[in-house]
Amino acid sequence: MANKGDLQRRQLLLVQFGRKVSSEPRLGPLLEILAEEVRQILSADRCSVFLVDKDKNELWSKVAHGLEKRELRFPISMGVAGFAVQSGEVINIKDAYNDTRFSGEHDKVTGYKTQSILAVPLKNREGRPLGVFQVLNKKRGFFDEQDEGFLQLLSVIASAAIENAQLYEDLKKSHLETIYRLAMVAEYRDQEDTAKHLRHISKYSALIADRYGLPYDQVEDIRYASPLHDIGKVAIPDSILRKPGKLTPEEYKEMQKHPEYGAKMLEGAESKLLKLASRISIAHHEKFDGTGYPNGLKGEIIPLEARIISVVDVFDALTTKRVYKKAWSPEEAAAYIRERAGKDFDPAIVDVFTKAFPDICEMILLEIIP
Ligand code: C2E
Ligand code: SIN
Ligand code: SIN
Ligand code: FE
Ligand code: FE
Repeated sequence: MANKGDLQRRQLLLVQFGRKVSSEPRLGPLLEILAEEVRQILSADRCSVFLVDKDKNELWSKVAHGLEKRELRFPISMGVAGFAVQSGEVINIKDAYNDTRFSGEHDKVTGYKTQSILAVPLKNREGRPLGVFQVLNKKRGFFDEQDEGFLQLLSVIASAAIENAQLYEDLKKSHLETIYRLAMVAEYRDQEDTAKHLRHISKYSALIADRYGLPYDQVEDIRYASPLHDIGKVAIPDSILRKPGKLTPEEYKEMQKHPEYGAKMLEGAESKLLKLASRISIAHHEKFDGTGYPNGLKGEIIPLEARIISVVDVFDALTTKRVYKKAWSPEEAAAYIRERAGKDFDPAIVDVFTKAFPDICEMILLEIIP
């Protein structure tokens, strides 16, 4: 039985748990926090959170595999975790190897020796199964009734947080899909492989932003806003955009309006991402020395995001075949970028780009290999 000090300790843990869990909107990090918190609170050796994949009728979890995370999946009916999800009941086992519900599959693969197990299902507000906490090997003795009750309490908080995170990810996904579709409309007339160009701009710019040291949220914003930089090209006639040869000065002047067209289309948008896309559109052809267009902005007056996009945009334009030019090799393009540092491009960004160049080459290679 718990004494008073123990109860107070648990109340405190409960409040801390609620605070930590509700401050993480992203599903991946949330699951990690949940598992680690529960492991500590219940004085157990291990804890996993398995989530239900309704479409595949499976349970899945991210598990540490050396330095990276791998997805572990198994049928929803398997093992103690599966049993808890399907029955909706708490399962408390003292000796796993003497219990028929225990499969021992994971132990076989990992060499781990499971002894005690406490599995508590996670349910949403309507009682639909979301997943399960599986806690293994109590440090001293076995999981008792208090552990069961306490983990059920934690599960209510955890379930609400998981459901929120899933809704948030759904929303984000549909938002991003819409942005991508929009960007495709703009670019599909002048590219052989539009989706590829957008993917490149998106990946390269996020990589550079990350290596530059920008915080995660800003990196993600750049990843998703960057494909819209040329949305203004929808307003450029085919006779110019798809011209196989060199543009006349008049045609080039018309072409140079695309940053402003894009910014006009996006300006006044409420969404943070579209606002950023607008700032990127208007400034992605500005040059560091002030000789770019449309406003001749100079140096750090040019928004950082646009300074990043301008490097990756030219790199990708050079390494891609266009109606008016052949494709350059990545090395030739990188040499050109370095040569234009301080003139067209921010030297600090070129520096980051140069260091990230091997990773960019690897991205290109991974794409060629099916
Ligand atoms: P884009 O083809 O995606 O090129 C983006 C930027 O990459 C260009 O911005 C330029 O800075 C750089 N770039 C692309 N190809 C080359 C190249 O062969 N050599 C060098 N040194 N840089 C290159 P820019 O010049 O402001 O052009 C903006 C857009 O105008 C281009 O986007 C393209 O859609 C169009 N454009 C530019 N020149 C021509 C042309 O001669 N013919 C046609 N049909 N379109 C052109
Ligand atoms: C289970 O059977 O519940 C999974 C645990 C394991 O096999 O290690
Ligand atoms: C592109 O990336 O497709 C062209 C960008 C630009 O207008 O320079
Ligand atoms: Fe452009
Ligand atoms: Fe572009």
